[in-house]
Amino acid sequence: MSSREQQAHDFVVVASRLPVDRIEDPDGGTAWRTSPGGLVTALEPVMREAGGVWVGWSGDSGPPPGAFEADGLDLVGLGLSETEVRHFYEGFCNATLWPLYHDVIASPQFHRRWWEAYVTVNRRFAEAAAEQAAPGATVWVHDYQLQLVPRMLREQRDDVRIGFFNHIPFPGYEIFAQLPWRRQVVEGLLGADLLGFQRRADATNFLRACRRAVGLITRGSAVRAGNREIHAAAFPISIDAKGLGEIARRDDVRKRSQQICDALGEPGPVPVLLGVDRLDYTKGILHRLRAYGELVAGGRLGPRPVLIQVASPSRERVEAYQTLRDEVEVMVGRINGEHGEVGYAPVHYLHQSYPREEMAALYLAADVMLVTPLRDGMNLVAKEYVACRNDENGTLVLSEFTGAADELAGAFLVNPHDIEGLKDTIVRAANTGPAEARRRMRAMRKRVREHDVARWAASFLDSLHGAPGADQPAWEPEAS
Ligand code: F6P
Repeated sequence: MSSREQQAHDFVVVASRLPVDRIEDPDGGTAWRTSPGGLVTALEPVMREAGGVWVGWSGDSGPPPGAFEADGLDLVGLGLSETEVRHFYEGFCNATLWPLYHDVIASPQFHRRWWEAYVTVNRRFAEAAAEQAAPGATVWVHDYQLQLVPRMLREQRDDVRIGFFNHIPFPGYEIFAQLPWRRQVVEGLLGADLLGFQRRADATNFLRACRRAVGLITRGSAVRAGNREIHAAAFPISIDAKGLGEIARRDDVRKRSQQICDALGEPGPVPVLLGVDRLDYTKGILHRLRAYGELVAGGRLGPRPVLIQVASPSRERVEAYQTLRDEVEVMVGRINGEHGEVGYAPVHYLHQSYPREEMAALYLAADVMLVTPLRDGMNLVAKEYVACRNDENGTLVLSEFTGAADELAGAFLVNPHDIEGLKDTIVRAANTGPAEARRRMRAMRKRVREHDVARWAASFLDSLHGAPGADQPAWEPEAS
Protein backbone atom coordinates (compact mmCIF):
# COMPACT_ATOMS: atom_id res chain seq x y z
CA MET A 1 0.00 0.00 0.00
CA SER A 2 1.23 3.49 -0.76
CA SER A 3 1.35 6.03 2.06
CA ARG A 4 -1.65 7.77 0.47
CA GLU A 5 -3.76 4.64 0.69
CA GLN A 6 -2.66 4.05 4.26
CA GLN A 7 -3.70 7.54 5.24
CA ALA A 8 -6.81 7.99 3.16
CA HIS A 9 -9.28 10.39 4.75
CA ASP A 10 -12.58 11.46 3.24
CA PHE A 11 -12.45 14.83 5.00
CA VAL A 12 -9.30 16.91 5.39
CA VAL A 13 -9.13 20.22 7.25
CA VAL A 14 -6.10 22.35 6.39
CA ALA A 15 -5.49 25.29 8.71
CA SER A 16 -2.36 27.19 9.63
CA ARG A 17 -2.55 25.91 13.20
CA LEU A 18 -3.43 22.57 14.73
CA PRO A 19 -6.50 22.58 16.99
CA VAL A 20 -4.39 21.44 19.96
CA ASP A 21 -2.04 23.01 22.47
CA ARG A 22 1.25 21.39 23.39
CA ILE A 23 1.40 20.68 27.12
CA GLU A 24 3.96 18.98 29.29
CA ASP A 25 2.87 15.60 30.54
CA PRO A 26 3.79 14.54 34.11
CA ASP A 27 6.89 12.61 32.90
CA GLY A 28 8.31 15.74 31.26
CA GLY A 29 7.30 14.56 27.76
CA THR A 30 5.00 16.29 25.28
CA ALA A 31 1.25 15.82 25.32
CA TRP A 32 -1.49 17.58 23.37
CA ARG A 33 -4.78 19.01 24.58
CA THR A 34 -7.60 19.98 22.21
CA SER A 35 -8.02 23.76 22.30
CA PRO A 36 -11.69 24.53 22.86
CA GLY A 37 -12.03 26.99 19.94
CA GLY A 38 -15.21 27.33 17.90
CA LEU A 39 -13.71 25.90 14.71
CA VAL A 40 -12.72 22.60 16.28
CA THR A 41 -16.07 22.35 18.08
CA ALA A 42 -17.84 22.77 14.75
CA LEU A 43 -15.64 20.45 12.75
CA GLU A 44 -15.08 17.73 15.33
CA PRO A 45 -18.41 15.95 14.67
CA VAL A 46 -17.84 16.17 10.90
CA MET A 47 -14.31 14.86 11.30
CA ARG A 48 -15.41 11.94 13.47
CA GLU A 49 -18.24 10.99 11.11
CA ALA A 50 -16.13 11.22 7.96
CA GLY A 51 -12.92 9.81 9.45
CA GLY A 52 -11.34 13.22 9.01
CA VAL A 53 -7.86 14.54 9.59
CA TRP A 54 -6.59 18.02 10.47
CA VAL A 55 -3.37 19.27 8.88
CA GLY A 56 -1.74 22.25 10.61
CA TRP A 57 1.37 23.85 12.08
CA SER A 58 2.32 23.09 15.66
CA GLY A 59 3.04 26.79 16.37
CA ASP A 60 6.82 26.70 16.90
CA SER A 61 10.05 25.99 15.05
CA GLY A 62 10.62 22.65 16.76
CA PRO A 63 10.64 19.35 14.88
CA PRO A 64 7.38 18.59 13.00
CA PRO A 65 5.15 16.37 15.14
CA GLY A 66 3.96 14.40 12.08
CA ALA A 67 0.84 12.23 12.32
CA PHE A 68 -0.61 11.71 15.79
CA GLU A 69 -3.89 11.44 17.63
CA ALA A 70 -5.23 13.76 20.34
CA ASP A 71 -8.60 13.31 22.05
CA GLY A 72 -9.58 10.86 19.32
CA LEU A 73 -8.82 13.32 16.48
CA ASP A 74 -6.36 12.43 13.71
CA LEU A 75 -3.85 15.24 13.27
CA VAL A 76 -0.87 15.88 11.03
CA GLY A 77 1.51 18.48 12.45
CA LEU A 78 3.79 20.27 9.98
CA GLY A 79 6.99 22.07 10.94
CA LEU A 80 8.38 25.49 10.06
CA SER A 81 12.05 26.35 10.36
CA GLU A 82 13.03 29.40 12.41
CA THR A 83 13.57 31.32 9.15
CA GLU A 84 10.13 30.25 7.89
CA VAL A 85 8.54 31.41 11.14
CA ARG A 86 10.10 34.83 10.52
CA HIS A 87 9.51 35.07 6.78
CA PHE A 88 6.25 33.16 6.34
CA TYR A 89 4.36 33.61 9.63
CA GLU A 90 5.64 36.86 11.12
CA GLY A 91 6.55 38.34 7.74
CA PHE A 92 4.24 37.58 4.84
CA CYS A 93 1.21 36.49 6.89
CA ASN A 94 1.33 39.06 9.65
CA ALA A 95 3.28 42.03 8.31
CA THR A 96 2.13 41.87 4.64
CA LEU A 97 -1.28 40.22 4.30
CA TRP A 98 -2.73 41.06 7.74
CA PRO A 99 -2.38 44.86 7.45
CA LEU A 100 -3.23 44.80 3.73
CA TYR A 101 -6.45 42.85 4.29
CA HIS A 102 -7.40 45.10 7.23
CA ASP A 103 -7.61 48.28 5.18
CA VAL A 104 -3.89 49.19 5.65
CA ILE A 105 -4.46 50.33 9.25
CA ALA A 106 -0.73 49.60 9.51
CA SER A 107 1.56 49.77 6.48
CA PRO A 108 2.00 46.41 4.77
CA GLN A 109 5.59 45.44 4.00
CA PHE A 110 6.40 43.75 0.72
CA HIS A 111 9.53 41.59 0.65
CA ARG A 112 10.32 39.06 -2.07
CA ARG A 113 11.98 36.63 0.35
CA TRP A 114 8.81 36.62 2.49
CA TRP A 115 6.76 35.82 -0.59
CA GLU A 116 9.13 32.95 -1.47
CA ALA A 117 8.65 31.53 2.05
CA TYR A 118 4.87 31.86 1.62
CA VAL A 119 5.04 29.83 -1.60
CA THR A 120 7.29 27.18 0.00
CA VAL A 121 5.16 26.76 3.10
CA ASN A 122 1.89 26.73 1.15
CA ARG A 123 3.35 23.95 -1.01
CA ARG A 124 4.20 21.97 2.12
CA PHE A 125 0.59 22.23 3.31
CA ALA A 126 -0.75 21.32 -0.13
CA GLU A 127 1.46 18.24 -0.34
CA ALA A 128 0.44 17.08 3.12
CA ALA A 129 -3.23 17.54 2.21
CA ALA A 130 -2.73 15.63 -1.05
CA GLU A 131 -1.16 12.74 0.88
CA GLN A 132 -3.98 12.59 3.41
CA ALA A 133 -6.97 12.86 1.07
CA ALA A 134 -8.78 9.73 -0.09
CA PRO A 135 -9.98 9.60 -3.72
CA GLY A 136 -12.87 12.05 -4.08
CA ALA A 137 -12.31 13.48 -0.57
CA THR A 138 -13.48 16.88 0.63
CA VAL A 139 -10.66 19.24 1.62
CA TRP A 140 -11.45 22.40 3.56
CA VAL A 141 -8.63 24.97 3.56
CA HIS A 142 -8.71 27.86 6.03
CA ASP A 143 -7.58 31.45 5.97
CA TYR A 144 -5.17 33.97 4.54
CA GLN A 145 -2.05 32.05 5.50
CA LEU A 146 -2.90 29.33 2.95
CA GLN A 147 -4.34 31.10 -0.11
CA LEU A 148 -2.10 29.24 -2.57
CA VAL A 149 -3.03 25.80 -1.24
CA PRO A 150 -6.25 25.33 -3.28
CA ARG A 151 -4.48 25.62 -6.63
CA MET A 152 -1.38 23.69 -5.54
CA LEU A 153 -3.60 20.90 -4.26
CA ARG A 154 -5.75 20.82 -7.38
CA GLU A 155 -2.62 20.47 -9.52
CA GLN A 156 -1.81 17.27 -7.62
CA ARG A 157 -5.29 15.95 -6.96
CA ASP A 158 -7.97 16.91 -9.44
CA ASP A 159 -10.32 14.32 -7.92
CA VAL A 160 -10.88 16.13 -4.61
CA ARG A 161 -13.48 18.76 -3.80
CA ILE A 162 -11.85 21.86 -2.34
CA GLY A 163 -13.42 24.53 -0.16
CA PHE A 164 -11.65 27.62 1.16
CA PHE A 165 -12.84 29.91 3.95
CA ASN A 166 -11.28 33.32 4.56
CA HIS A 167 -11.63 34.23 8.24
CA ILE A 168 -10.49 37.84 7.79
CA PRO A 169 -11.79 40.59 5.48
CA PHE A 170 -11.00 40.55 1.77
CA PRO A 171 -10.06 44.15 0.90
CA GLY A 172 -11.40 46.42 -1.81
CA TYR A 173 -9.49 46.14 -5.09
CA GLU A 174 -7.71 49.53 -4.76
CA ILE A 175 -6.03 48.16 -1.64
CA PHE A 176 -5.57 44.56 -2.80
CA ALA A 177 -3.96 45.83 -6.00
CA GLN A 178 -0.94 47.00 -3.98
CA LEU A 179 0.10 43.37 -3.50
CA PRO A 180 2.91 42.60 -5.97
CA TRP A 181 1.69 38.97 -6.11
CA ARG A 182 -2.04 39.77 -6.44
CA ARG A 183 -2.47 37.63 -9.53
CA GLN A 184 -0.84 34.57 -7.97
CA VAL A 185 -2.98 34.93 -4.86
CA VAL A 186 -6.23 35.12 -6.82
CA GLU A 187 -5.20 32.19 -9.00
CA GLY A 188 -4.19 30.25 -5.89
CA LEU A 189 -7.65 30.74 -4.37
CA LEU A 190 -9.37 29.81 -7.63
CA GLY A 191 -8.12 26.25 -7.24
CA ALA A 192 -11.08 25.84 -4.85
CA ASP A 193 -14.64 24.93 -5.90
CA LEU A 194 -16.19 27.20 -3.27
CA LEU A 195 -14.73 30.27 -1.56
CA GLY A 196 -16.39 31.40 1.64
CA PHE A 197 -16.08 34.88 3.11
CA GLN A 198 -17.42 36.51 6.28
CA ARG A 199 -19.50 39.23 4.60
CA ARG A 200 -21.07 39.64 1.20
CA ALA A 201 -18.83 42.69 0.68
CA ASP A 202 -15.74 40.47 1.03
CA ALA A 203 -17.03 38.06 -1.63
CA THR A 204 -17.82 41.00 -3.90
CA ASN A 205 -14.31 42.40 -3.39
CA PHE A 206 -12.83 39.02 -4.31
CA LEU A 207 -14.94 38.73 -7.48
CA ARG A 208 -13.78 42.19 -8.48
CA ALA A 209 -10.17 41.10 -7.94
CA CYS A 210 -10.81 38.16 -10.28
CA ARG A 211 -11.97 40.56 -12.99
CA ARG A 212 -9.29 43.21 -12.45
CA ALA A 213 -6.20 41.19 -11.46
CA VAL A 214 -6.74 38.16 -13.71
CA GLY A 215 -9.20 39.41 -16.34
CA LEU A 216 -11.76 36.69 -15.64
CA ILE A 217 -15.48 37.02 -16.14
CA THR A 218 -17.93 36.73 -13.28
CA ARG A 219 -21.68 36.30 -13.06
CA GLY A 220 -23.47 36.71 -9.74
CA SER A 221 -21.46 34.71 -7.21
CA ALA A 222 -19.68 32.68 -9.91
CA VAL A 223 -16.37 33.14 -11.66
CA ARG A 224 -15.29 31.23 -14.71
CA ALA A 225 -11.65 29.96 -14.83
CA GLY A 226 -10.99 27.74 -17.86
CA ASN A 227 -13.58 24.98 -17.84
CA ARG A 228 -14.28 25.43 -14.14
CA GLU A 229 -16.90 27.49 -12.36
CA ILE A 230 -15.98 28.69 -8.88
CA HIS A 231 -18.39 30.24 -6.42
CA ALA A 232 -17.63 32.99 -3.90
CA ALA A 233 -20.22 33.74 -1.23
CA ALA A 234 -20.71 34.90 2.37
CA PHE A 235 -20.84 32.36 5.21
CA PRO A 236 -20.61 34.41 8.44
CA ILE A 237 -18.82 32.32 11.04
CA SER A 238 -20.17 31.94 14.56
CA ILE A 239 -19.52 30.31 17.93
CA ASP A 240 -20.66 27.30 19.94
CA ALA A 241 -23.43 29.41 21.50
CA LYS A 242 -25.05 26.55 23.40
CA GLY A 243 -21.79 25.29 24.90
CA LEU A 244 -20.75 28.77 26.03
CA GLY A 245 -24.21 29.54 27.38
CA GLU A 246 -24.01 26.38 29.50
CA ILE A 247 -20.65 27.43 30.92
CA ALA A 248 -22.10 30.84 31.83
CA ARG A 249 -24.96 29.11 33.67
CA ARG A 250 -22.66 27.10 35.93
CA ASP A 251 -22.67 27.97 39.65
CA ASP A 252 -18.88 28.22 39.86
CA VAL A 253 -18.80 30.65 36.91
CA ARG A 254 -21.56 32.83 38.34
CA LYS A 255 -19.82 32.84 41.71
CA ARG A 256 -16.58 33.88 40.03
CA SER A 257 -18.44 36.67 38.25
CA GLN A 258 -19.74 37.94 41.59
CA GLN A 259 -16.19 37.80 42.99
CA ILE A 260 -15.01 39.97 40.08
CA CYS A 261 -17.75 42.53 40.82
CA ASP A 262 -16.90 42.48 44.53
CA ALA A 263 -13.20 42.95 43.80
CA LEU A 264 -14.01 46.11 41.85
CA GLY A 265 -15.17 47.80 45.05
CA GLU A 266 -18.09 48.08 47.38
CA PRO A 267 -20.45 49.79 46.77
CA GLY A 268 -19.87 48.58 43.23
CA PRO A 269 -18.59 51.04 40.65
CA VAL A 270 -21.14 51.93 38.05
CA PRO A 271 -20.84 50.90 35.32
CA VAL A 272 -18.40 48.08 34.50
CA LEU A 273 -17.17 48.27 30.91
CA LEU A 274 -15.30 45.39 29.29
CA GLY A 275 -12.99 45.08 26.29
CA VAL A 276 -11.63 41.69 25.20
CA ASP A 277 -9.20 41.55 22.32
CA ARG A 278 -6.02 40.06 21.03
CA LEU A 279 -3.52 42.88 21.40
CA ASP A 280 -3.78 43.84 17.74
CA TYR A 281 -3.85 47.25 16.03
CA THR A 282 -7.00 46.27 14.12
CA LYS A 283 -8.99 46.09 17.36
CA GLY A 284 -9.18 49.84 18.00
CA ILE A 285 -7.94 49.57 21.59
CA LEU A 286 -6.23 52.98 21.52
CA HIS A 287 -9.35 54.72 20.15
CA ARG A 288 -11.41 53.04 22.86
CA LEU A 289 -9.01 54.09 25.60
CA ARG A 290 -8.96 57.66 24.30
CA ALA A 291 -12.77 57.84 24.38
CA TYR A 292 -12.98 56.20 27.80
CA GLY A 293 -10.24 58.41 29.29
CA GLU A 294 -12.12 61.52 28.17
CA LEU A 295 -15.38 60.17 29.60
CA VAL A 296 -13.69 59.52 32.95
CA ALA A 297 -12.17 63.00 32.92
CA GLY A 298 -15.54 64.56 32.10
CA GLY A 299 -17.41 62.53 34.76
CA ARG A 300 -19.99 61.37 32.19
CA LEU A 301 -19.99 57.76 33.44
CA GLY A 302 -20.58 58.61 37.10
CA PRO A 303 -18.04 58.89 39.90
CA ARG A 304 -16.02 55.64 39.68
CA PRO A 305 -16.46 53.81 36.37
CA VAL A 306 -14.29 50.82 35.58
CA LEU A 307 -13.01 49.47 32.29
CA ILE A 308 -11.59 45.95 32.32
CA GLN A 309 -9.42 45.58 29.24
CA VAL A 310 -8.24 42.06 28.49
CA ALA A 311 -5.54 42.30 25.80
CA SER A 312 -4.23 38.82 25.15
CA PRO A 313 -0.63 38.57 23.94
CA SER A 314 -0.34 38.09 20.19
CA ARG A 315 2.41 38.00 17.52
CA GLU A 316 4.82 39.46 20.03
CA ARG A 317 7.87 39.41 17.77
CA VAL A 318 6.21 41.52 15.05
CA GLU A 319 7.28 45.16 15.36
CA ALA A 320 3.84 46.75 14.92
CA TYR A 321 2.55 44.64 17.81
CA GLN A 322 5.43 45.69 20.07
CA THR A 323 4.79 49.35 19.28
CA LEU A 324 1.07 48.95 19.94
CA ARG A 325 1.73 47.31 23.30
CA ASP A 326 3.92 50.24 24.37
CA GLU A 327 1.28 52.76 23.27
CA VAL A 328 -1.56 50.94 25.03
CA GLU A 329 0.41 50.61 28.23
CA VAL A 330 1.40 54.29 28.23
CA MET A 331 -2.23 55.29 27.74
CA VAL A 332 -3.52 52.97 30.47
CA GLY A 333 -0.84 54.33 32.82
CA ARG A 334 -1.84 57.89 31.99
CA ILE A 335 -5.56 57.34 32.62
CA ASN A 336 -4.92 55.53 35.89
CA GLY A 337 -2.28 58.05 36.95
CA GLU A 338 -4.49 61.05 36.29
CA HIS A 339 -7.86 59.73 37.47
CA GLY A 340 -7.17 56.85 39.87
CA GLU A 341 -6.80 57.02 43.62
CA VAL A 342 -5.70 54.62 46.32
CA GLY A 343 -8.08 51.68 46.04
CA TYR A 344 -9.49 52.75 42.67
CA ALA A 345 -8.14 52.33 39.12
CA PRO A 346 -10.34 53.39 36.18
CA VAL A 347 -8.67 50.82 33.89
CA HIS A 348 -7.89 47.23 34.82
CA TYR A 349 -5.49 46.16 32.09
CA LEU A 350 -4.83 42.43 31.76
CA HIS A 351 -2.18 41.39 29.26
CA GLN A 352 -3.04 37.71 29.63
CA SER A 353 -5.10 34.91 28.10
CA TYR A 354 -7.82 33.21 30.10
CA PRO A 355 -9.78 29.96 29.92
CA ARG A 356 -13.37 30.05 28.71
CA GLU A 357 -14.78 29.89 32.28
CA GLU A 358 -12.98 33.08 33.33
CA MET A 359 -14.05 34.80 30.11
CA ALA A 360 -17.68 33.83 30.76
CA ALA A 361 -17.42 35.23 34.31
CA LEU A 362 -16.04 38.51 32.93
CA TYR A 363 -18.81 38.75 30.33
CA LEU A 364 -21.40 38.26 33.08
CA ALA A 365 -19.78 40.99 35.18
CA ALA A 366 -19.85 43.58 32.37
CA ASP A 367 -22.65 46.12 32.09
CA VAL A 368 -21.35 47.34 28.74
CA MET A 369 -19.24 45.32 26.30
CA LEU A 370 -17.01 47.42 24.04
CA VAL A 371 -16.16 45.78 20.70
CA THR A 372 -14.72 48.62 18.65
CA PRO A 373 -12.29 47.32 16.00
CA LEU A 374 -11.21 49.53 13.11
CA ARG A 375 -11.69 46.48 10.88
CA ASP A 376 -12.56 42.88 11.77
CA GLY A 377 -13.65 39.96 9.59
CA MET A 378 -16.31 38.89 12.10
CA ASN A 379 -15.40 39.41 15.80
CA LEU A 380 -16.47 36.42 17.81
CA VAL A 381 -16.05 38.23 21.15
CA ALA A 382 -19.26 40.14 20.42
CA LYS A 383 -21.09 36.85 19.86
CA GLU A 384 -19.53 35.27 22.97
CA TYR A 385 -20.75 38.14 25.14
CA VAL A 386 -24.28 37.73 23.81
CA ALA A 387 -24.22 33.93 24.23
CA CYS A 388 -23.17 34.25 27.87
CA ARG A 389 -25.89 36.74 28.83
CA ASN A 390 -28.53 34.20 29.83
CA ASP A 391 -29.86 36.89 32.16
CA GLU A 392 -30.62 39.09 29.07
CA ASN A 393 -28.81 42.00 30.73
CA GLY A 394 -25.93 44.06 29.45
CA THR A 395 -25.46 46.17 26.34
CA LEU A 396 -23.07 45.88 23.42
CA VAL A 397 -21.25 48.75 21.72
CA LEU A 398 -20.15 47.40 18.34
CA SER A 399 -18.03 48.82 15.55
CA GLU A 400 -19.67 49.19 12.15
CA PHE A 401 -16.48 47.80 10.67
CA THR A 402 -16.94 44.25 11.98
CA GLY A 403 -18.68 41.37 10.24
CA ALA A 404 -20.75 40.95 13.42
CA ALA A 405 -22.37 44.36 12.81
CA ASP A 406 -24.25 42.85 9.84
CA GLU A 407 -25.91 40.37 12.20
CA LEU A 408 -26.28 41.87 15.69
CA ALA A 409 -29.09 44.32 15.21
CA GLY A 410 -29.51 44.92 18.96
CA ALA A 411 -26.04 46.42 19.35
CA PHE A 412 -25.23 50.13 19.60
CA LEU A 413 -23.32 50.60 16.36
CA VAL A 414 -20.45 53.01 16.29
CA ASN A 415 -17.70 54.40 14.06
CA PRO A 416 -14.62 53.96 16.29
CA HIS A 417 -12.71 56.71 14.47
CA ASP A 418 -15.32 59.23 15.65
CA ILE A 419 -14.19 59.72 19.25
CA GLU A 420 -17.09 62.05 20.16
CA GLY A 421 -19.57 59.60 18.63
CA LEU A 422 -17.90 56.74 20.48
CA LYS A 423 -18.14 58.63 23.78
CA ASP A 424 -21.83 59.45 23.25
CA THR A 425 -22.59 55.84 22.29
CA ILE A 426 -20.82 54.43 25.35
CA VAL A 427 -22.79 56.80 27.58
CA ARG A 428 -26.03 55.81 25.84
CA ALA A 429 -25.29 52.11 26.19
CA ALA A 430 -24.39 52.56 29.86
CA ASN A 431 -27.65 54.43 30.55
CA THR A 432 -30.01 52.15 28.65
CA GLY A 433 -33.07 51.24 30.70
CA PRO A 434 -33.51 47.55 31.62
CA ALA A 435 -36.49 47.02 29.28
CA GLU A 436 -34.69 48.36 26.23
CA ALA A 437 -31.46 46.53 27.13
CA ARG A 438 -33.44 43.28 27.40
CA ARG A 439 -35.20 43.85 24.09
CA ARG A 440 -31.89 44.43 22.34
CA MET A 441 -30.16 41.50 24.04
CA ARG A 442 -33.03 39.12 23.22
CA ALA A 443 -32.81 39.94 19.52
CA MET A 444 -29.07 39.35 19.50
CA ARG A 445 -29.31 36.12 21.48
CA LYS A 446 -31.88 34.74 19.05
CA ARG A 447 -29.57 35.43 16.14
CA VAL A 448 -26.50 33.88 17.81
CA ARG A 449 -28.45 30.85 19.05
CA GLU A 450 -29.96 30.14 15.63
CA HIS A 451 -26.79 30.84 13.63
CA ASP A 452 -24.17 28.97 15.57
CA VAL A 453 -20.88 27.54 14.37
CA ALA A 454 -22.37 24.11 13.63
CA ARG A 455 -24.87 25.72 11.26
CA TRP A 456 -22.04 27.72 9.66
CA ALA A 457 -19.98 24.58 8.99
CA ALA A 458 -22.99 22.63 7.71
CA SER A 459 -24.06 25.41 5.40
CA PHE A 460 -20.54 25.78 3.93
CA LEU A 461 -20.09 22.04 3.43
CA ASP A 462 -23.59 21.63 1.93
CA SER A 463 -22.84 24.40 -0.55
CA LEU A 464 -19.45 22.87 -1.33
CA HIS A 465 -21.02 19.53 -2.12
CA GLY A 466 -23.68 21.21 -4.22
CA ALA A 467 -21.10 23.38 -6.04
CA PRO A 468 -21.09 22.75 -9.79
CA GLY A 469 -17.34 22.09 -10.28
CA ALA A 470 -15.98 21.56 -13.81
CA ASP A 471 -17.46 21.53 -17.31
CA GLN A 472 -20.39 23.85 -16.86
CA PRO A 473 -22.01 25.22 -20.01
CA ALA A 474 -20.74 28.61 -21.15
CA TRP A 475 -22.66 31.58 -19.81
CA GLU A 476 -22.92 35.29 -20.29
CA PRO A 477 -20.67 37.43 -18.09
CA GLU A 478 -21.98 40.18 -15.83
CA ALA A 479 -20.95 43.79 -16.45
CA SER A 480 -17.93 44.74 -14.33
O1 F6P B 1 -8.59 35.75 12.70
C1 F6P B 1 -7.54 35.22 12.01
C2 F6P B 1 -6.60 34.43 12.90
O2 F6P B 1 -5.59 33.86 12.12
C3 F6P B 1 -7.30 33.37 13.68
O3 F6P B 1 -7.45 32.20 12.96
C4 F6P B 1 -6.42 33.24 14.89
O4 F6P B 1 -7.10 32.79 16.00
C5 F6P B 1 -5.94 34.65 15.11
O5 F6P B 1 -5.99 35.28 13.86
C6 F6P B 1 -4.56 34.69 15.74
O6 F6P B 1 -3.67 34.24 14.80
P1 F6P B 1 -2.24 33.66 15.05
O7 F6P B 1 -1.96 33.64 16.53
O8 F6P B 1 -2.25 32.29 14.46
O9 F6P B 1 -1.32 34.58 14.33
